[in-house]
Amino acid sequence: MKLGIERIGMDIPRHCLDLRDLAEARRVDYAKYKRGIGQEFMAVPAPDEDVVTLGANAARRALRGVDTERVRTVIFATESGVDQSKAAAIYVHKLLDLPSNCRTVEMKQACCSSSSALHFAMATVALKPEEKVLVIAADIARYGLGSAGEPTQGAGAVAMVVSAEPRVLALDTDVGYYTEDVMDFWRPNYRDEALVDGKYSIKVYMTALEHCWTNYRRATGADFGDFQHFCYHLPFSRMGVKAHLHLARFAGAALSSRKLQAQVEPSLRYNRLTGNAYTASLYLGLLALLDGDDQRLDHARVGFFSYGSGCMGAFFGGTVLPGYREALDTESRRRALECRTILSYEEYVDFYNHVLPEDGRPYRTARHRTGAYRLAGVENHQRLYERVPEVAVPAADASRAYAAAPAL
Ligand code: CAA
Repeated sequence: MKLGIERIGMDIPRHCLDLRDLAEARRVDYAKYKRGIGQEFMAVPAPDEDVVTLGANAARRALRGVDTERVRTVIFATESGVDQSKAAAIYVHKLLDLPSNCRTVEMKQACCSSSSALHFAMATVALKPEEKVLVIAADIARYGLGSAGEPTQGAGAVAMVVSAEPRVLALDTDVGYYTEDVMDFWRPNYRDEALVDGKYSIKVYMTALEHCWTNYRRATGADFGDFQHFCYHLPFSRMGVKAHLHLARFAGAALSSRKLQAQVEPSLRYNRLTGNAYTASLYLGLLALLDGDDQRLDHARVGFFSYGSGCMGAFFGGTVLPGYREALDTESRRRALECRTILSYEEYVDFYNHVLPEDGRPYRTARHRTGAYRLAGVENHQRLYERVPEVAVPAADASRAYAAAPAL
């Protein structure tokens, strides 16, 4: 039985910040952002967007053409959850009008719970091949104004329908894991922004990659050369390049610059324009690879490295299925990136500083550009979500973001 991704959808905020403007505000050489960490734009959520709205928008796309009566499980992977008790999956379940005979749950382990969600989903489908599982990864990366992590902030969501009828990617069942208790990045319950030891987090990422690869090889006997492409967790796009060079060295594989370019570069395109989306980052990378028109990927073997600080890692493989392009909405992603509104630095700071009241008083969120779902406000400590008509994007809004973007 083949198990894997049948459909996949993405959502990103409709607003972004050009990192040239951030560099100017922070008096930093823009080349540090563009070449040093590999970021050009940062997706910025509006006050009426959160992980629920981003996740619901991505899931709505992923579910197009899917028989939702067969979706019996929704797993929402996030580290930017909106409630300590209630799963974000329940809000999405309601917004998408999914059948009530459904299990809904939220999962957490920093950026890699989305990969565990995928593997739990596969195990569910292996037991019940007639069922489908909706996996949603959505996050908002916040480090603080003026912090070292600021240029790596971002947001986004990816939703995947996992089933025994995969059309996009067949996933292998063997995974090489690594877990170790380290404090490289964490967010205590009382904070909105992550605490991070940036340089240390990169070291731990590499250590986890080495262990995961070793455990994966032990389980499968696979070689570095068995994969045509690699997708890495991308806290910033340059990390994908660093990780690939590191893994090639560790695996004792020769890596020409042409090979490096071909094996990882296609997966970095979206991250450069959105920034980190924690749980969704690895899968935004997969989408960037699949959407690229550089080559046909039928039967291509892809190696995945998922990393979640704290820390846990997972290395696994998958095979792109012939006809995958027909199951993708590449055009919708091109439009989403093309039509963003670029915020001024001051508008970015305003969005960043927006907070919802915490005293239970009724509050209505100002309407901004969003997808089909928005956070309408809060009342009695409850979040209120609403469906909105899709906004037609005026041609004048076509932003510099797309002009500056590499070909998609
Ligand atoms: N022109 C070109 N390049 C320049 C430059 C310039 N003028 N100035 C600096 N650079 C280069 C540096 O040489 C460096 O490149 P190398 O790493 O290849 O040497 C790069 O730009 C970054 O410079 P610094 O290391 O000096 O940057 P920094 O101290 O400001 O911190 C960071 C960078 C650690 C990534 C920081 O942004 C950060 O803390 N980010 C958040 C944490 C993070 O993303 N960690 C990644 C691993 S953890 C993880 O993956 C989980 C997760 O999602 C968070």
